[in-house]
Amino acid sequence: MKFPKKTLDDLTDLKGKIVLTRVDFNVPLDSSQGVTDSTRLEAAAPTIKRIIELGGIPLLMSHMGRPAGQVVEELRLAPVVEPLSRLLGCPVKAARDTVGESARQMIDSLQPGEVGLLENLRFHSEEKQNDREFSRELASLGDLYLNDAFGTAHRAHASITGVTEFLSPAVGGYLIEAEFEKLTEVRDNPERPLMVLLGGAKLADKLPVIKHFLEQAEVVMVGGAMAYTFALARGNSVGESRVEPDFVDEARDILENRDRFKGELLLPVDNLILDTTSDGQRIKTTTTDSIDEGWEGMDIGPKTVEKFCQQLESAGTVFWNGPFGAFDYDERFARGTRKIAEKLAGLEAKVVVGGGDSASAVKQSGFADQLYHISTGGGASLQLVRGVELPGFKVLDDK
Ligand code: ADP
Ligand code: 3PG
Ligand code: MG
Repeated sequence: MKFPKKTLDDLTDLKGKIVLTRVDFNVPLDSSQGVTDSTRLEAAAPTIKRIIELGGIPLLMSHMGRPAGQVVEELRLAPVVEPLSRLLGCPVKAARDTVGESARQMIDSLQPGEVGLLENLRFHSEEKQNDREFSRELASLGDLYLNDAFGTAHRAHASITGVTEFLSPAVGGYLIEAEFEKLTEVRDNPERPLMVLLGGAKLADKLPVIKHFLEQAEVVMVGGAMAYTFALARGNSVGESRVEPDFVDEARDILENRDRFKGELLLPVDNLILDTTSDGQRIKTTTTDSIDEGWEGMDIGPKTVEKFCQQLESAGTVFWNGPFGAFDYDERFARGTRKIAEKLAGLEAKVVVGGGDSASAVKQSGFADQLYHISTGGGASLQLVRGVELPGFKVLDDK
């Protein structure tokens, strides 16, 4: 589906105008404050460069982490300044605060060809509260508003929705336009059969997605940590595996009603498990989907990989959210996810990956370049594919 909102391409002359631009620079940092994955910076670069080409001055604003309304030194946006400046090939000036005197001083010093960056929006609790006064204050810093923060488009925060009450035009950037168009392909007219791979954890976010795709897709394959909650719901032993007890009932409900759904639900048939008494040394593969006491499920097993890969061969479209093992914990638990990524890379099917950890798992596997689309959004991509209207899109000017 074409993006139904105005974009940067609907603006012509931005000469000397300050474009208040919401980006999602919530990037992972290492212990010495280095950016470990700059995908989100790269993804926003085309929009920022285009603003400069049109004579505008990008004034960027983002959140970083969840500082809960106070200044947390480790969550300043300073670490992105240097990589961003290198990427854009122009100076990036950062303010020590999001609004107020230091922000104004920085903005006053901006020259055409330079980029301004406000401090972490979430140092102010008013951001998450979508506070009207704070929104007005943010809006007063720019001449018009642009949103290219796809990863945060599902949040109705001041910098995303509130600000548009006070600033116009309000348009989208190239990243959210591209994300919208690729993700709505999965949502509205996927090449059939549509197969959905769901792993990772956080059942609160993912159960609605499982239910949605059991209605919409031909096959839903579940792996990763959330499979153990399903195993528990089925009455299996799961040993020391990571389960989410609050969701066992809902998982059981899905299992008991699985015949009523259009889609087939596939669960792991074996697991790679870790002996929790062995100092992280001893691992083995189970022959069933049951896990003994003292052992923890860390990845899907080889039989499951084979079963899922066989299914995927006939897929027309694949949507994947959530890694199938604790790939980020130990290389030994990345095998299942990597094997699935390798399989997907060799398919004709359009493969769309959404989710923060999913995207890094796929990149780590080395097959990312061979897939159709890797979203920069986690929660936002999940909501979009299951038909929830994103607050950040809604408020932008219609085409
Ligand atoms: P995404 O960010 O892509 O939506 P999630 O945040 O839901 O994905 O899940 C990613 C997390 O799930 C990772 O930290 C990974 O280590 C964890 N995980 C996946 N499989 C397992 C498993 N078998 N045991 C423990 N943790 C797992
Ligand atoms: C993300 O990383 O998923 C986005 O930046 C949104 O962050 P949030 O879940 O803290 O709102
Ligand atoms: Mg995650």
